[in-house]
Amino acid sequence: MRFGGQGPSLAVHTPAKLNLSLEVLGRRPDGYHELETVMVSIGLYDTLLFTEDTSYQTRLQCLWTDLWSTGRSAVSLGGADNLIVRAAELLRAATGCTRGVTIDLWKRIPVQAGLGGGSSDAAATLVGLNRLWNLKLGTGQLHELAARLGSDVNFFLESPLAAICRGRGEQIEALAADRRLHFVVACPGSGLSTADVFRHWARGKTDATRGGRLEAGHGVRWPEFIRHRLRNDLEESARALNRDVGRTLDALRAAGATAVLMSGSGSACFAVCRSALHARAIAGRLRQQHIARVFSVDMRA
Ligand code: C5P
Repeated sequence: MRFGGQGPSLAVHTPAKLNLSLEVLGRRPDGYHELETVMVSIGLYDTLLFTEDTSYQTRLQCLWTDLWSTGRSAVSLGGADNLIVRAAELLRAATGCTRGVTIDLWKRIPVQAGLGGGSSDAAATLVGLNRLWNLKLGTGQLHELAARLGSDVNFFLESPLAAICRGRGEQIEALAADRRLHFVVACPGSGLSTADVFRHWARGKTDATRGGRLEAGHGVRWPEFIRHRLRNDLEESARALNRDVGRTLDALRAAGATAVLMSGSGSACFAVCRSALHARAIAGRLRQQHIARVFSVDMRA
């Protein structure tokens, strides 16, 4: 997360994420699923501009959205905008603050893609309004509110370059890594609902072998991780629910990528590349196929 702006306004640039591994360990009594996942922040950002005003309300304006990949109008962003407003309301309820805000959102992260865009916007709202309204909530209190908004929101509060996330996804352990990675991210035109993908997984679940518990203590060596641990337990369900997922993975391979995976609950897929140059070459070939929105990005918090 990066900050800018001046005077009564605060700008927050908040990143997307990729899941380099995602293991579903089982269903929980609360209906959620127990996870162990490695997430990285990538250089694809939404921008939120917070401006204090004299109303007691939260006003949200989406100034730009990715019409190509979502087919939605600029004013309707599915769950993403609701999560921003809910984050603001949650902060007000927790602190008794009655101040107003206008939030301008530049939406670049595709929605329903497994890239965490809605969660990232919610985290930016918690952090941004805590500053703008001078609420003085500590990190622990922000994490508590984040967990109530969604399973991925905690990761984005501090948006580490890499982290192991456990529980529903809300328990974060930052992960030191030996180098930055370069990716091609490909988002097909159709998205997936996270709840649908987990439901499908629960119906067909097999007793998959676990990769062995990850430990953050010694950091991670990416080449080894990518050779042995690149895995997403939700991929099969996502492929069954949306044929674009399989097509996108095939297209990445056809463009020359070897290490490819779906992110989160999909539908975005990505390739881990040897270098920024390698990523740009694969992205160029993939764009010629016109089957997905393509980004060439690296790890960035
Ligand atoms: O937490 P979040 O609201 O982002 O999750 C959306 C939906 O995805 C949940 O309502 C739940 O159905 C499913 N989910 C799950 N287990 C998780 C995370 C999400 O079953 N660990």
